[in-house]
Amino acid sequence: MIVEPTPHTLESLTEQLHGLSNVEAMRTLAELFPGQIVFSTSLGYEDQVITDLIASNEIPVRIFTLDTGRMFSETYSVWKKTNDRYGIHIETYYPQADAVEKLMTGKGPYSMYESVENRKECCGIRKVEPLNRALKGQKIWITGIRAEQSANRQGMAQLEWDEAHQLFKFHPLMDWTFDEVKQYVKEHNVPYNPLHDRGFVSIGCQPCTRAIQEGEDFRAGRWWWEDNSKKECGLHTHEEVFKA
Ligand code: ADX
Ligand code: SF4
Repeated sequence: MIVEPTPHTLESLTEQLHGLSNVEAMRTLAELFPGQIVFSTSLGYEDQVITDLIASNEIPVRIFTLDTGRMFSETYSVWKKTNDRYGIHIETYYPQADAVEKLMTGKGPYSMYESVENRKECCGIRKVEPLNRALKGQKIWITGIRAEQSANRQGMAQLEWDEAHQLFKFHPLMDWTFDEVKQYVKEHNVPYNPLHDRGFVSIGCQPCTRAIQEGEDFRAGRWWWEDNSKKECGLHTHEEVFKA
């Protein structure tokens, strides 16, 4: 008789991870879902901490980045440094060439400033479609989201069920403060994006990211020309228009 494995539920997994360190939790998830666990890195501060935890502890998790084609040159530098330091090859997903060609031919390189729709179209082509490909067939998606980053993120749990992608999302640094992240990077001599030293907190694409002033919100430097409520690119919100 074939015995079906008991499906993992959000409750059972949450219980299994309870009280574990981040390294232990990621190792446990990697054992439960071999070959179906990925970490998405934007190469920002938080993600560099997670890469360090995964690579230094040899946890079998695939690490990928979404290269939108509009990243800062500093981001490519830290990407290379990270590959060299840990002896890894961060996997890369690119947007579909024909979609980028059509967008750039039709609307030019700065259409994102013209309307929220245009900005979301660009994010859809450059980030969300490649993300959907990267997550295909996966069961665990690790991210560097922290509660402190935005009101939206404060309501999230460390382990969540992502209905749109049909997988569990795990945010190891959910409860970390920005100071704790910086401290870890310093103590472990983790390579980091030099833009962080110039007032950039959350780093995304070059046209859509700027430095913030002391006391400003963490995400004030992202899509600063838009309403606060609209400031998500679709990686962590699931708007119909971006679904593959
Ligand atoms: S975003 O939604 O505004 O773009 P943010 O920059 O806060 O996201 O990053 C949150 C998490 O999303 C990161 O920790 C990382 O896991 C993932 N992420 C964001 N941008 C990328 C990217 N270019 N490639 C891979 N993962 C990314
Ligand atoms: Fe395009 Fe800006 Fe979105 Fe990057 S963040 S994909 S440049 S709209």
